[in-house]
Amino acid sequence: MTTEGYQEIERFLSETTGLDPESLGRKSIANAVDAAMKALGIRRVVDYLGVLRSGVETLEDLLERVVVPETWFFRDGETFNYLRIYLEERGFPGSEKKPLRLLSAPCSTGQEPYSIAMTLLEMGYSPERFRIDAVDISAKSLHIARKGLYGRGSFRQKGKDRHEHFFSKSEDGLRIDPEVSGLVQFYRGNLAVPYALRKQERYDVVFCRNLLIYLTEEGRRAVLANIDRLLVADGLLFAGNSEVVFFFQNGYLPVKHARSFACRKTGTCSLQGVVAPRPRPAPLKKEPRVRLNLKTVPTPGRREKVPETVQRVHAATSLQEVRDLADRGELHEALRLCEQFLRANRCHSEGYYLMGLINFALDSFTAAEEFFQKALYLDPRHYETLIHMGLLYEKRGDHTKASIIKDRIERFRLNHADPQETL
Ligand SMILES: C[S@@+](CC[C@H](N)C(=O)[O-])C[C@H]1O[C@@H](n2cnc3c(N)ncnc32)[C@H](O)[C@@H]1O
Repeated sequence: MTTEGYQEIERFLSETTGLDPESLGRKSIANAVDAAMKALGIRRVVDYLGVLRSGVETLEDLLERVVVPETWFFRDGETFNYLRIYLEERGFPGSEKKPLRLLSAPCSTGQEPYSIAMTLLEMGYSPERFRIDAVDISAKSLHIARKGLYGRGSFRQKGKDRHEHFFSKSEDGLRIDPEVSGLVQFYRGNLAVPYALRKQERYDVVFCRNLLIYLTEEGRRAVLANIDRLLVADGLLFAGNSEVVFFFQNGYLPVKHARSFACRKTGTCSLQGVVAPRPRPAPLKKEPRVRLNLKTVPTPGRREKVPETVQRVHAATSLQEVRDLADRGELHEALRLCEQFLRANRCHSEGYYLMGLINFALDSFTAAEEFFQKALYLDPRHYETLIHMGLLYEKRGDHTKASIIKDRIERFRLNHADPQETL
């Protein structure tokens, strides 16, 4: 089997779904192709490619083998806290005549839309005052979502017992009560095609979390265009923690609630209706180039003489402040605080990662790369650094380095796969 054949399949997969072979891992795709061919009794990649091109079912089968369905209830807890605050501040919008409309896209195996439903029920919303739609490309994931039966891996958030009354225990896990599951309409759909969900009315709140990280630049733009079209003019959008920056770069405004990864539509999104490749969109506000005092950045290996416990508590507080500032879009202030933090905590991989992330958001790619390298030097398995380093190389068009990083991510993922979440 030739590498060329696999590359052709990767290309086909990207073109049809927006998925980025590098983010998914080339080895994972090759393994998926091998398994799919075996199941079909096909021996040559070229023959498989022909079948793939001629039949929707074969593509669907391959998709099921490559998508990452990783999700859990109340993932990024502050997201749901902010949803509650946002609706309270607006005086609990939504009525029987004009229900509040929320979209979970992609919804994977259902934990995200069900978390939205539980949040609204806890707030005292009656079912006729809101509507939750949920969409995903994977039929297998949607089947699990509709069944509503979950194992331990779906409950990872703190204070999980709070929602126990929405589930009933069974031998195979916890089953979501029909009172909650009946509130979500699941659809199968590809968010990377033009005018996805075109028959749906606009939504007041959209959750688009942890999809863009798996997509090519073109795929991301197509999804952004769809999401922007589906969101009402002043709508609220929740992204994944490393994805929210894409929305900022496309005219969305940060929301002042740390770690909610929320942003607001402003009506100036440059992607409305765009489905074809475009040059990298300009940031909303052109930030002045950051001058980093790299000399003050310590060399790894030297430690301060601060008692370790004190150091840890102090580190956690300041880094949270850095994150809060960055989440609010106050990037220069976040940089300043993070630099200060690193002067006192010289071997802190998370600190370097945040420096890299903020520089990345400011388009200071060289500085970002240096900080990511330092983070990885201190902690070669720092997953978020690996993800962002890959994105950085991709953005710079350095495909060789991007591919090396993606291999590392893939190795990491293979070693940390949660069997509960594997479909
Ligand atoms: C990591 S899960 C994210 C689930 C949830 N939003 C969360 O953050 O927990 C990513 C999901 O994206 C779906 N997906 C991948 N490509 C897609 C596409 N082009 N259109 C719709 N869904 C897609 C996958 O099937 C998978 O269920």
